[in-house]
Amino acid sequence: MDSFKYVDGVLHAEGVPVTKIAREQGTPAYVYSRETLLDHYTKIDQAFAAVPHLICFSVKANSNLGVLAILNKAGSGFDVVSGGELHRVQKIGGPMKKVVYAGVGKTDEEIGAALKAGILMFNVESEAELENIGRIATDLREKKQIAEPARVALRVNPDVDPHTHHYITTGKKETKFGVDLQRASQVLKNAPKYKNVQVAGVHAHIGSQITEVEPYKESLGKVVSFIKDHRSKDVPLTYLNSGGGFGIYYADKKAPPVAQFAQVMVPLVQQSGCTLVLEPGRFIVGNSGILLTRVIYVKDSGAKRFLIVDAGMNDLIRPSLYDAFHEIWPVESETLPPTRGGAAKADPDATLEVDVVGPICESGDFLAKGRALPKEIKRGDLLAVFSAGAYGYVMASNYNTRGRAPEIIVKGGAYAIATRRETYDDILKNESVPESVL
Ligand SMILES: Cc1ncc(COP(=O)(O)O)c(C=O)c1O
Repeated sequence: MDSFKYVDGVLHAEGVPVTKIAREQGTPAYVYSRETLLDHYTKIDQAFAAVPHLICFSVKANSNLGVLAILNKAGSGFDVVSGGELHRVQKIGGPMKKVVYAGVGKTDEEIGAALKAGILMFNVESEAELENIGRIATDLREKKQIAEPARVALRVNPDVDPHTHHYITTGKKETKFGVDLQRASQVLKNAPKYKNVQVAGVHAHIGSQITEVEPYKESLGKVVSFIKDHRSKDVPLTYLNSGGGFGIYYADKKAPPVAQFAQVMVPLVQQSGCTLVLEPGRFIVGNSGILLTRVIYVKDSGAKRFLIVDAGMNDLIRPSLYDAFHEIWPVESETLPPTRGGAAKADPDATLEVDVVGPICESGDFLAKGRALPKEIKRGDLLAVFSAGAYGYVMASNYNTRGRAPEIIVKGGAYAIATRRETYDDILKNESVPESVL
């Protein structure tokens, strides 16, 4: 599952005791395992080996340059949603012909930069955007700044419920994403009137943390018949982009192995005759990272125990934002957490239900509520927050003027700092006191 394992009562990231990282680098700290990253990337690659496919790692899930460079070396492409993410991929020398660009609100500047960079294609969310990309591409071609027309995939909204949190549901018709299939036909009909933009595929990303295969079957079923229908009308659609969304094991929710998703998706992709583009984020990076944190105080109040730790909602907002479950366990422990071979049911003699909370001045600042953890946890103990590699650091903020944690990557028996801890000077570097307003 991942390369975070207890050895003689101490949690290790690959071959490195995480106690060593905490001692040398402090807490809170994000720790990623290179081996797990590559293992998950390979699992997807192998699961879809039967069809021509391109894996475009979803940069929004974890945009650390070190993580991107590791995946680039493994052959991954990238799915970006902003000029900033594109810049990151350029920075690590990622091949532009493996970059797809999604997002409902791309600006003219972002579109121009992506065209000049020569990305593979845009995922277009509306006819207005299609027209705008054509306009910008025409302008750039006239100025001889680009040689080819812009290539796009039309994002459709298949109106399928992915059975996930409503904030990360995107494939239902009431969300802002894509265009419904009927309108999509109209957009394809209108497309030839826009110069310098070529619709080469169809994109459908229905949501994130999807733990059932059925929604993919339903969505791809609709998309493939849409593609077949339009191909018969001579619309040259050669790419089918199924987006991301494969769920991971967060301990409260089990996710099927990626091969099970592939089992239902591959035959449909084969029917379409298209190259499959996948945009996995969470599946590759989610279980590849932990957040290391230290208990600052143990506080009993109102018949409840609180473990007040040094990581807060500014470091990991998922529990506050989505009510997300992250397994938490002491880094040094004789007993194992339920997902790592420990008792599935909490032992009432050895555990206590506690709230694990951060230092931030918000009641919403928590990492876990009512969680059965070993009774003996005390001030100074280290805790690991598991499955924190996706949508963790990328959503971190400086709220309460707290510097963001470092990002550390482990390879075998050694670790390296990929992002250093932010200092107060880092936080204040763009600010000044303008004399004129005093
Ligand atoms: C268009 C698109 N592609 C890919 C992803 C990545 O999803 P996940 O991390 O669930 O694989 C997202 C995430 O929301 C997305 O919006």
